[in-house]
Amino acid sequence: MKPSILGGGLLALGLALSASMAFGHGDVQPQPVDTAGLAPLGEGWKDENPYRGDVKAIAIGDSGFNQNCARCHGLQVISGGLAPDLRYLPVGKEGDEYFVERVRHGAIINGMTKMPAFEGVLTQEALWAIRTYIESKHEE
Ligand code: HEC
Repeated sequence: MKPSILGGGLLALGLALSASMAFGHGDVQPQPVDTAGLAPLGEGWKDENPYRGDVKAIAIGDSGFNQNCARCHGLQVISGGLAPDLRYLPVGKEGDEYFVERVRHGAIINGMTKMPAFEGVLTQEALWAIRTYIESKHEE
């Protein structure tokens, strides 16, 4: 029997799609974020982003976001609808306070974990770097 060209093509397409979907949703396990080069922040949580506008923090936050947040909030902070589109999070201190509250404690709604808590999983430095990246993508 001749091998089916169509079958082979569909199989290849399927493999390409599953590979890109795995990438599109990022890694499921929390991924450590290397924050070398950022000023250490100590124990207590800041209520305002200490790295705002810092290009190094934006670069670190870009990779931290894509590994830990993008599977729900979308690559490049463009939500596919699974979770809020963080481009519209308020800028400045108002958004910072809201951000920190949410990422530390996650979102548990009617007993279901919609978003995991990141306190103790990612460092304060990593989370503020992610906030810096998100703010760099802000839209009105
Ligand atoms: C498992 C999916 C998931 C992951 C992973 C996730 N989130 Fe969320 N996040 C959600 C959902 C769902 C909500 C909305 C919860 C609600 O309805 O209040 C949310 C809400 C938020 C909010 C509040 C947005 C708003 O407009 O109310 C912020 C800020 C946020 N997430 C940041 C992050 C960051 C930063 C990361 C990565 C460190 C992250 N999230 C990882 C699912 C996720």
